[in-house]
Amino acid sequence: MECSRLTVSAALTLDQLRVKTSVAINWRNVWRTLQEVLTDCTKDNGWLHVSSAADRVVHYTLSQILYNTYEPPSDNELEVLYDIPDRGDQIKILWLQKAAIGFYTVKLKGTLIENTDEKYAMHMLDTAYIRTTHRRQGHGLSILTDLLQGRVGQDMGLSSPISRSMWRGDFLK
Ligand SMILES: CC(C)(COP(=O)(O)OP(=O)(O)OC[C@H]1O[C@@H](n2cnc3c(N)ncnc32)[C@H](O)[C@@H]1OP(=O)(O)O)[C@@H](O)C(=O)NCCC(=O)NCCS
Repeated sequence: MECSRLTVSAALTLDQLRVKTSVAINWRNVWRTLQEVLTDCTKDNGWLHVSSAADRVVHYTLSQILYNTYEPPSDNELEVLYDIPDRGDQIKILWLQKAAIGFYTVKLKGTLIENTDEKYAMHMLDTAYIRTTHRRQGHGLSILTDLLQGRVGQDMGLSSPISRSMWRGDFLK
């Protein structure tokens, strides 16, 4: 597959076209497969901040299409659907060999808690996801190491509920 960067647009419109087993995303009047959307030849390996409209399309595809639709959360595992992040949330995507394979989002300390006048008293890990094809390779654990970088000694919270797979790994021991 040819590896190319999405054209960045200030006005972002997303449409999903579902035709039985295939899904495409229309952005700026160009239809792209999920694989094309989740590939970016400019990305180095590692957890990178979402900093452009193209990155937001990648996060949307991972969180709202792959996770919410194709790899849906399991009630037994205490996994839940994810909402679109709030404006002040920090979003990072894990890139591996030019492919987006996971994400996490953080509610930053001092930002407003939705529908209240209160503010988060500490950074909160709000959502986390690694594609099923890449699980059990330590990428989930790397969320925590990435999160804690530069924040040693600071309190850190996790949004509830915490899924069983999150508890099971070495994350919270
Ligand atoms: C939770 C989640 C992010 C973990 O991702 P992951 O990449 O599989 O996590 P890790 O690989 O670091 O650890 C998972 C397991 O693999 C094991 N593992 C890690 N590296 C491994 C390796 N190289 N070989 C074999 N096993 C390995 C870990 O010890 C852990 O084992 P355990 O579950 O038996 O304790 C992932 O399961 C997920 O996206 N779940 C759906 C959404 C969700 O639950 N999010 C969390 C909300 S709180």
